[in-house]
Amino acid sequence: MTDSEVKILTSYDMNGLLLRNRLAVAPMTRVSASVTGLATPRMTSYYERFAKGGFGLVITEGIYTDQKFSQGYPFQPGIVDQEQALAWRDLTQRIHAHQGAVFAQIMHAGALSQGNRFTDHSAAPSAVRPKGEQMRFYYGEGQYPVPRAMSDEDIADAVSGFAQAAKRAVEEAGFDGVEIHGANGYLLDQFLTDHTNQRADRWGGNTQRRLGLTLEVIKAVRDAVGAVPVGVRISQGKVNDFTHKWANGERDAEIIFGSLSDAGVDFLHVTEFEAWRPAFANNSTSLVGLAHRYAPDATLIANGGLQISEHADFALEEGADLIALGKAALANPDFPKRLAASESFTDFDASILGPIADIKGCELNC
Ligand SMILES: Cc1cc2nc3c(=O)[nH]c(=O)nc-3n(C[C@H](O)[C@H](O)[C@H](O)COP(=O)(O)O)c2cc1C
Repeated sequence: MTDSEVKILTSYDMNGLLLRNRLAVAPMTRVSASVTGLATPRMTSYYERFAKGGFGLVITEGIYTDQKFSQGYPFQPGIVDQEQALAWRDLTQRIHAHQGAVFAQIMHAGALSQGNRFTDHSAAPSAVRPKGEQMRFYYGEGQYPVPRAMSDEDIADAVSGFAQAAKRAVEEAGFDGVEIHGANGYLLDQFLTDHTNQRADRWGGNTQRRLGLTLEVIKAVRDAVGAVPVGVRISQGKVNDFTHKWANGERDAEIIFGSLSDAGVDFLHVTEFEAWRPAFANNSTSLVGLAHRYAPDATLIANGGLQISEHADFALEEGADLIALGKAALANPDFPKRLAASESFTDFDASILGPIADIKGCELNC
C-alpha cells in the first residue's frame, strides 16, 4: 500500500465531526425519489451500501430546496417540508449505524431545471438561454428554455429556501452537515459565471459581486444550522459547458476561495473533470492546489477521476484532505474495504445510467 493509500484510510476530524477515513461518496443525482420528492426505501438501501462498504462520508445527490424554482428534474428528492425531511430519516440513521457520516447536498437548478412540478418556467440571474441541451438521462429533451430573470423577491426566496432546507436537513432529517451546491452550472454557479449573469444590480458585475449570492446563502445556512459542518461545492466546468474556465485565472481563484473561506465555510468541495490537471493553461497548479493556497483553513474535498491511485496522491499533495469518488463508488460501493484489503476494483459500467440515471438493480445488489 502506498503512503497516500495509508493516509486515505486514516480518520479525519472535520471541525469536531470524526470521519473514519478520508473517502467520500460524491453527490450523484439518481432521479429515484417519489413523484412528490420523497426519499424512498430503495434510495435508503442504495445509500446504505456505501456506508456498509466503508466510506467515511456520503454526500447525497442534489436535493431541491423550495417550492418555487429550485427543482431540477422529475423524481428528484426535495427537503421543502416536514414530510420530505422525515423521509430521509431512516437513511441517515442507517448510515450512522454503519459508522458513516452523511451530508445533504442542497441544490437550486436555476436555468438548468428540466422538470419542476411547482412551476412551468425556470428562473435564473438573467434571461439567457443555457448552452447545450437538456440531459436525457434526467428525463430532459431539446434546448433549455429561456429562464425568467429573478426579481429581488425571487432571490430572497431562494436564499431562504437554502436556509430552511439546511435547517430541516440537520434538525429533522438527521444529516451531519450540509453541502451547498455552488458548482456545475446550477443557480449559484449561474450567478458566478460572467455570461449567465448580466445583472446591473448588486448581484452582478465583477467576480466578487457575482459570488455575492453564494456568500449570502452561506451566511443564511450558517445562521440556520449553527456549528455543524457547512461547505460549498465549486467547479469551473458545468454540466452544459464542460470546458468553461474562470476568465481571470488564478486571480479569480484567489477571490473565490479567499471569500468563501472568509465566509466561514468548514469545507470546500472542489470538482473538475480531471482534478489533477492544471486549473489554467498558464499555471501548473490544479484547482485543488489553488483552493488550498487561498483557503488553507477549510477542509478540502477533491473530486474528479481520483479513483486512480497516482491521481489521488497528487490531489493529497496539492492539499486535499478528503477524496470524493463518483462513478468509481457506483462500481465499487465497498471501495474503502477493497482498498484496505488490497483487492482489485470493478470498472464503472455506464449502462447503469442509461437511458435514465435511476437506481438500477439496487433491489438485487443492495
Ligand atoms: C449520475 C451522476 C449524477 C450526478 N449528480 C450530481 C449531483 O447531484 N450533484 C453534484 O454536485 N454532482 C453530481 N454529479 C457529479 C459527481 O459528483 C462527480 O463530480 C463526477 O461524477 C466526477 O467524479 P468521478 O470522476 O469520481 O465520477 C453526478 C455525476 C453522475 C455520474
